[in-house]
Amino acid sequence: MGTKRHFRVWRGDSSGGEIQDFDVEVNEGEVVLDIIHRLQATQTPDLACRWNCKAGKCGSCSMEINGMPKLGCMTRMSTFEEDETVTITPLRTFPVIRDLVTDVSFNYEKARETPAFAPPEGVAPGQYRMQQVDVERSQEFRKCIECYLCQNTCHVVRDHEENKTAFSGPRFFIRAAELDMHPLDAREDRKEYAQAHQGLGYCNITKCCTEVCPEHIKITDNAIIPMKERVVDRRYDPLVWLGRKIFRRDQLDEPARVPATVSASASGGGSADSTPEVHTSGTPFTSARQGEAPPVRDDGKMDVAELALPHQGGPSPFGDDQEFPLPVEDLTYNPPSKEDPDSKEDH
Ligand code: SF4
Ligand code: SF4
Ligand code: FES
Repeated sequence: MGTKRHFRVWRGDSSGGEIQDFDVEVNEGEVVLDIIHRLQATQTPDLACRWNCKAGKCGSCSMEINGMPKLGCMTRMSTFEEDETVTITPLRTFPVIRDLVTDVSFNYEKARETPAFAPPEGVAPGQYRMQQVDVERSQEFRKCIECYLCQNTCHVVRDHEENKTAFSGPRFFIRAAELDMHPLDAREDRKEYAQAHQGLGYCNITKCCTEVCPEHIKITDNAIIPMKERVVDRRYDPLVWLGRKIFRRDQLDEPARVPATVSASASGGGSADSTPEVHTSGTPFTSARQGEAPPVRDDGKMDVAELALPHQGGPSPFGDDQEFPLPVEDLTYNPPSKEDPDSKEDH
């Protein structure tokens, strides 16, 4: 028999809601999701909560626990003080459907907008051969379980609905980085695309996304910063700029060279030693959205205004007087209740 502990759970739907109080039994070794299940079994059979694996692998049980975006199934009750009230609220950035369930379709729309893997021309699936060394950098990003805790935490969209159209968010920056580092991806404009269409410039590398990732993916250091650095390098390298002034763009853009080998045996004969380097005659796009070059002004020059800004890659949407990371007391981890201002007191 466990001990009774105090919980506060946000209940409501898109029209509003409130924090409700419950005393629930807690046993040794339990996680927050166990408590929600016990609540459903004993007091609130209609409490809505999304979950699937209870093993930190499906990414369904994302919620805010005492204001921190976390997985309910991976948050042990033993991490709280014995007498601590545990407050559970839905993800703030996405619209509430009911109770702890939010509509995360924003993320699926952004997934659809992210250009897919572009295989090299003339190489069929099954003919790709990669070494461990080829995937060393991008393998980290494949650990993503699409819990969207990073998307929920990012301040660019957390309290700024208006930024959602232009900003894909950290989950899709790691997808872009993963494909950019993929040795067989033939698309060469991932970084420029992220800058021009995924809102990479809005990110001012506060690292809040990295802080909440349950897979410990170094989103900012290993994906966002390398992409930002290289997009700036490529756009503002004086030699590239001079080259573009002298040559036409189509003279500069060489066919994509894909530094990976094709297994000759898989493609019908020969030994592994004779495997050719694959060359493609262009950049195949698997997305309906075509890549675009960085913006060029009417006079044919690129805009260098970004370089003069303190935040490389774009201006902060919050103005330059805002310093990051924000102090904890300024973070707005609140339930999305507009009708119930009292609920904010609990955080
Ligand atoms: S580093 Fe900050 S601004 Fe950039 S994506 Fe992550 S949370 Fe958003
Ligand atoms: S990057 Fe991390 S926090 Fe973001 S969706 Fe993937 S697993 Fe979740
Ligand atoms: S239930 Fe699958 S990650 Fe929590």
